[in-house]
Amino acid sequence: MSYKIVSLNDQGLGICYVNDKITFVDNVVVDDIVELKIINSFKKYNLATVTKYIEKSKRRVDEFCPYYKECGGCHLQNLSYEDTLKFKKEKLEKILHKFANIDIDIEMIKSSKDKKYRNKITLKIENKKIGYYSSKTNNLVEINNCLIVQDSINNFIKEINRFNIINGEIIIRSNYNDELLINIISDDKINIPSFDNKKIIGIVLNDKVVYGQDYFVELINNKYFKVSYDSFFQINRDICSKLFNIINDNILENKNVLDLYSGVGTLGINVANKEKKVYGIEIIKNAVLNSITNASINKLNNCNYLLGDASNVIDKINDDISVCLIDPPRSGLSKKEIDVILKMNPKQIIYVSCDPITLARDLKLLKDCYIIKKIIGLDMFCYTHHLESVSILESR
Ligand SMILES: C[S@@+](CC[C@H](N)C(=O)[O-])C[C@H]1O[C@@H](n2cnc3c(N)ncnc32)[C@H](O)[C@@H]1O
Repeated sequence: MSYKIVSLNDQGLGICYVNDKITFVDNVVVDDIVELKIINSFKKYNLATVTKYIEKSKRRVDEFCPYYKECGGCHLQNLSYEDTLKFKKEKLEKILHKFANIDIDIEMIKSSKDKKYRNKITLKIENKKIGYYSSKTNNLVEINNCLIVQDSINNFIKEINRFNIINGEIIIRSNYNDELLINIISDDKINIPSFDNKKIIGIVLNDKVVYGQDYFVELINNKYFKVSYDSFFQINRDICSKLFNIINDNILENKNVLDLYSGVGTLGINVANKEKKVYGIEIIKNAVLNSITNASINKLNNCNYLLGDASNVIDKINDDISVCLIDPPRSGLSKKEIDVILKMNPKQIIYVSCDPITLARDLKLLKDCYIIKKIIGLDMFCYTHHLESVSILESR
């Protein structure tokens, strides 16, 4: 029996109907006609995998990565880059409509590089085998190259076995200058080899520096940012630069700005020279220390940072806030943060989100008091089903 794929769900899985029951299928695109094997049957849906492609869709393109089917990290490699952008635009519009009753035409900003864009990877090591955990099984998929990360990182993967890590995790980050910062987490007795590669600027083992330094410096739109090994930084530099520009072009000027979830101070520092004051709130201590340094490197003296959980610290700011710049992790805002923001009554909210569902949930609570002027999608995570967005809200 063959089935036609009628659409894709939010995770990029194909949808077809087997005896009227919704069935999710991996490695397919719309209009593929396939034979299937059901691998899991639940009350309301099936999960299936393709046993034979009867007719391949005209939209299908060949995946560019040899690990694509096992790894599951990039979900959309059988679509052209333009079609992945269309998928993300429709995904965001659908979620905003479904969960927040917001109907809005989203502009999608593409990444100038759709491959080799990632500046960070996290690899697992099991019995000396190095790879990613498969998104489907959580089994290790051995890799020696990942086509969405920067060359500088890929070139280093072949060196990892010199550390003699048997089990653990290695996080490799690279900056604008292709310098590498390595962070290893392992209980094994690790060897720290000497590398000819001058671009390795630091190696951290279980939170202790064992070579060089524990940070790198990133450069975005002529601004420098010190980033410690445990501080967050946006993973696609081109999209980070475009995000800076969007915020710069839309933010109200000469105001007190709250940069909630400020990381190393990135988004607030980007606009600080045209604002009265910037207040950042961030939970990672090194990131707060980085942001204080970053304000100073960028010759700003109007930035203040608070260390702590955003929910506990947000009501500690004793100043009038006219702009809230918000960039939370996937979990979005807590109810308390939303209540405090509504009480602060800023003229403008700029909400940067990496999760459309929590974005929709939060906008639903804000939209009675705020007009949603625009929402822009940014392709931070090319060929995955994930997307970044920035929403510009103005007080009613
Ligand atoms: C998506 S990142 C954004 C960082 C920064 N705005 C940037 O553009 O680089 C989210 C940040 O929130 C921080 N964070 C996570 N949970 C937090 C919490 N409960 N309170 C405060 N900060 C938190 C993370 O450490 C991270 O730096």
